[in-house]
Amino acid sequence: MARIAIIPEPKKILAGEEGNADPVIREKKTDPDMGEEEYCLQLKKDGIWIAGGSEKACLYAKSTLEQIRLQCGDTLPCLTVEDCPAYSWRAFHIDCARHFIPADELKKMIRMSAHFKLNKFHWHFSDDQGWRIECRKFPLLHEIGAARRGDHMGNYDSDETEDRYYTREQVREIVAYCGELGVEVIPEVDMPGHVTAVLAAYPQYGCRGEQILVETRAGIFRDILCAGKEETFVFIEQLLDDLLELFPGKYFHIGGDEAPKEYWSSCPLCRKRMEEEGLENLQQLQGYMENRITAYLKAKGRTVIVWNEAAYGGNLDPDTIVQLWTEDKENRLEQHMERGGKAVISIVKNCYCDYPYGITSLRDVYELEECPAGLTKAKDRILGTECLIWTEHVRDEKRLETLCWPRFAASAEVGWRGQDRPGYPSFETRMKRLLPVFEKYGICPEEAPGWVPAQEEAKRQKAEFEKNFSAEDRQEVEKMQEII
Ligand code: ACM
Ligand code: ZN
Repeated sequence: MARIAIIPEPKKILAGEEGNADPVIREKKTDPDMGEEEYCLQLKKDGIWIAGGSEKACLYAKSTLEQIRLQCGDTLPCLTVEDCPAYSWRAFHIDCARHFIPADELKKMIRMSAHFKLNKFHWHFSDDQGWRIECRKFPLLHEIGAARRGDHMGNYDSDETEDRYYTREQVREIVAYCGELGVEVIPEVDMPGHVTAVLAAYPQYGCRGEQILVETRAGIFRDILCAGKEETFVFIEQLLDDLLELFPGKYFHIGGDEAPKEYWSSCPLCRKRMEEEGLENLQQLQGYMENRITAYLKAKGRTVIVWNEAAYGGNLDPDTIVQLWTEDKENRLEQHMERGGKAVISIVKNCYCDYPYGITSLRDVYELEECPAGLTKAKDRILGTECLIWTEHVRDEKRLETLCWPRFAASAEVGWRGQDRPGYPSFETRMKRLLPVFEKYGICPEEAPGWVPAQEEAKRQKAEFEKNFSAEDRQEVEKMQEII
């Protein structure tokens, strides 16, 4: 049998009879004895037979079949694919806050991700540079929080206004679209930091209470939600209620990354809260805040996810899933997992697809250590992986697509196969054969020569990318990182 390229590479492909299969689908059934994401695809002389542990698993069989058809047309070999993933969490993250991504483009990205059996869409729609979902209870969020007067992210310099957001109708449509494709939506409201756009609309929920403007620059910013004011928690709970209606899924991400605590440190109400709650430091105050929001969401049947800085205080509710992206200061994630906590792995150097390929090559994405040293003891509580695109430096759809593809597909194989994956050279060969799949979905991937740039080219890309950060920007970020 000629080698057929499939991504993610299935666990088992068994050769069948000599001669060609009948290309007509004869049966598609769900089988309760199969795992939820397990499927079996049989190409036989009497037709195509699909069985899956769920409707979603049957869709996986269809994606596999689609890739086979792209290579073989209707002259199909007889074979059987028996397949199931190593990890149940194979997420992709798209930042729609920094630069808005129109609903049709977003759907295209979701469709392509689903094709590669990625199964969770982490939707980042709130950040310093914009709040991008229509909010019924707090309309100033989309009226003021979505309106950015200028774009000075990186070395870009423009006065153009960005004021787009997704209407509730569009959100419902995207959530339903994801459902049809077997993709769960994980909405994220980033708190207590990365809230400049929220505070531009409702400044009373910050420690200073001063009017600020939606950020036009990239970075980490000092104004964060006040953990001392009771009104902040009322605001958050009402805001969440407004969003929970739109997002019926099990998971909710409440952010928690890059929250500089300078204003908390000097806020009498935050200080009072620490004293009353017996909190030893500002990181524990963040843990307290995350736990309070988590308790609210848990009571509504949701499971909460946070970025790993939220665990720095060591007091995080063990039911919270921690997403590891940066340094695990004082092994807090490790301790969280020892207390029964679960984790998702999305380390910057392998999973952040906003960097040029000269910094994060396709090989780097493929070679993620998804079970990092230090967490091996709690291996069974690593849920899986996530690939991400942040959009501070992404201003058009072609750029978005070339940054994400084929890197998201590499991440899909990491999550599907885990340690047992076939290796980068095999992935690259298969990816080249499957390039027509991108054309079919109208996606413009990075071209193959750019996937793993040679040293000189990588150096050039790195130098070009670094032009986005002035010496002052770097100093400021370093300063902020000390107080996170
Ligand atoms: C992050 O990249 N700030 C989670
Ligand atoms: Zn405060």
